[in-house]
Amino acid sequence: MSDIAEPVIPVWQHLESSARAVLTLYGFSEVRTPVVERRSVFERSLGTTTDVVQKEMYQFEDGGGRELVLRPEGTAGVIRYLAGLGQDGAGARVYYLGPMFRRERPQAGRKRQFHQFGAEAAGEPSPYADAEMIALQVHLLQAWGLTNFIIKLNTRGMPVDRVAVQDGIRNLLEARRGELCEDCQRRMDANVLRVMDCKNPGCRAIVAELPPMTSFMSEEARAYFEEVKRILERLDLQVTVDPNLVRGLDYYQHTVWEIAHPGLGAQDAVGAGGRYAIELGGREVPGVGFAMGMERIIMALEAEQKLPAPATQPLVWLVSVERSLLDAHLQLVQSLRLRGVKTRIDLGGRSIKAQMRAAAKAGARWVILHGADEDAKGTFQLKDMESGEQREVDMPGLLEVVRPALVS
Ligand code: HAM
Repeated sequence: MSDIAEPVIPVWQHLESSARAVLTLYGFSEVRTPVVERRSVFERSLGTTTDVVQKEMYQFEDGGGRELVLRPEGTAGVIRYLAGLGQDGAGARVYYLGPMFRRERPQAGRKRQFHQFGAEAAGEPSPYADAEMIALQVHLLQAWGLTNFIIKLNTRGMPVDRVAVQDGIRNLLEARRGELCEDCQRRMDANVLRVMDCKNPGCRAIVAELPPMTSFMSEEARAYFEEVKRILERLDLQVTVDPNLVRGLDYYQHTVWEIAHPGLGAQDAVGAGGRYAIELGGREVPGVGFAMGMERIIMALEAEQKLPAPATQPLVWLVSVERSLLDAHLQLVQSLRLRGVKTRIDLGGRSIKAQMRAAAKAGARWVILHGADEDAKGTFQLKDMESGEQREVDMPGLLEVVRPALVS
């Protein structure tokens, strides 16, 4: 779990505001659900045999005997919220951003507190909605400045297909059970599809020989998937069908996808999504959505050398030459800030030399020196930190110099 501060915090703020702008274009509005939820919210929707629910949730019992968890993902809480709205929740389009928690083994790109930006569209049971969601996610990645990503697509079929797929795969794997890793031998009984995305080379070789999951699915599920692919092609969106993509959460039905970035190493998924049906409180809410891992998005921007420039660099730094004039100095910096000029001043009473050093270190474009002489004349010494030139200006002259820099 990390603190997020300078120098990277302006990048987060920039990514968040451009994401909000893109989501608004598609009619999504923000929802902020609690970070702490009842354990059952995730057990019922993510599935009790998934790694997230079995091993990764931070859980505790509160004083009142309630079983609570820190949310490991955003979808289940959003659906809990929408289910509570009754009819008003149908057709809702919401997005969310915030911290998620998983007690995983930390490694590059995998943290125990990480941040997701996600979106969910409730209702809309149509392949067009799946394709629109993928188009939206691509729009978002491009708005952030990323170009190098790969969309991996697959289908989980419908609930009836799930049983047929599980039985089909299990029957084929049964003869080779002894060759699978220990985890996969356990998965064979608990959740056989998890064998499909095991990273163990021995298991991968066995999985590579299996027929695609779609071969066990109904005609209806296959037709749905064909339609999603056709619409994506029509939208000029390049996707790679990955027959082994199963996703680690149980709520998915039909289309699933993952977006990988080649600059990232082992944990290369910058985002993922899919269609699902979640039953909560006696209501089943169908939906389609995705979530992006913000830490990984920043790593991907770094890899593509597209990190935006920090926004907190001051334009002007006022160096206080005469401490007795501090009232006037503070008044001046306030009047500049109210005009939109990023201005800093050192109020700690340090030497002129130390103040000049601080201004240079912060990357100030101009330094204002203000002492008794200038105060008597109503002027300032303005030093251009790029050219080193210094000249005397009055207030209109000062504003004239800095104004062009405000709009750029
Ligand atoms: P997920 O694949 O578990 O899906 O997570 C989505 C993204 O969150 C991942 O692709 C990754 O970028 C990021 N992520 C996950 N775990 C970590 C971690 N430990 N450290 C850093 N980043 C991480 C979901 O959570 C689904 N709720 C997505 C969804 C929304 N499906 C439908 N709607």
